[in-house]
Amino acid sequence: MPRVIETIDLKKTYFMAEPVHALRGVSLQVESGEFVSLMGASGSGKSTLMNILGCLDRPTDGSYRLDDKEVAELDKNRQANIRNEKIGFVFQGFNLLSRTTALENVELPLVYDRARRIKNPTVKAKECLDRVGLGDRLDHQTHQLSGGQQQRVAVARALVNDPALILADEPTGNLDSRTSMDLMSLFQELNDQGITVVLVTHEPEIAKYSRRIVEMRDGLIVLDEKVKDRRNAQDDLANFKGVTGI
Ligand SMILES: Nc1ncnc2c1ncn2[C@@H]1O[C@H](COP(=O)(O)OP(=O)(O)O)[C@@H](O)[C@H]1O
Ligand SMILES: [Mg+2]
Repeated sequence: MPRVIETIDLKKTYFMAEPVHALRGVSLQVESGEFVSLMGASGSGKSTLMNILGCLDRPTDGSYRLDDKEVAELDKNRQANIRNEKIGFVFQGFNLLSRTTALENVELPLVYDRARRIKNPTVKAKECLDRVGLGDRLDHQTHQLSGGQQQRVAVARALVNDPALILADEPTGNLDSRTSMDLMSLFQELNDQGITVVLVTHEPEIAKYSRRIVEMRDGLIVLDEKVKDRRNAQDDLANFKGVTGI
């Protein structure tokens, strides 16, 4: 399997009044097709690591190969290009534009696709909305969609560049349990289709839907293991419906 992420001894220090050593030597490998949960207490360095993995920020030290290309020292422009080409982001707060339709929200990243890798943005955006089950909501504006649907639009937007990697920072953070399961079933489905996912969560029940758990503490990886008894979100959803009678 090709390697999507390979970091060696990544360090990140924020130079404040007192330097903050947010990452103190993180070596992580993620192969194509993996589904990884990144866990750890608040302040352990998860978002800092995700920002570097997503080429939103650079490490102070160490190397990062993304899809076999060294990216740790790229300038802002090159970082942006790599980001557009290789990474899809899903955030806790959905980050959709208001007064904008689902279709427009998903098309948006393609405006920045300077290489024009995607020939027909509208067709591609529709395809991605179909893929997340919102093919019948193309013209709905953000505020006309439920929280779960908004997060699905965000996932469709993350898919539109055919990324090598999807990074999701607490994507279920603003969702109730049922909607969280529903979103996790979408991530499981996409992962089954071969998409590589790295997701931050502090909820063990959410991590159980992934295939591997990496835990951080004080800027270091302290645990890295396969998920035992991986759960199937579709099954859990079916049982959940049964229990509540929805
Ligand atoms: N932009 C920043 N400037 C200064 N310090 C930061 C910044 N971002 C994070 N930190 C600090 O780095 C450490 C790790 O934070 P973070 O990566 O956000 O952890 P987590 O996502 O696990 O809660 C914390 O001590 C935090 O206060
Ligand atoms: Mg965080």
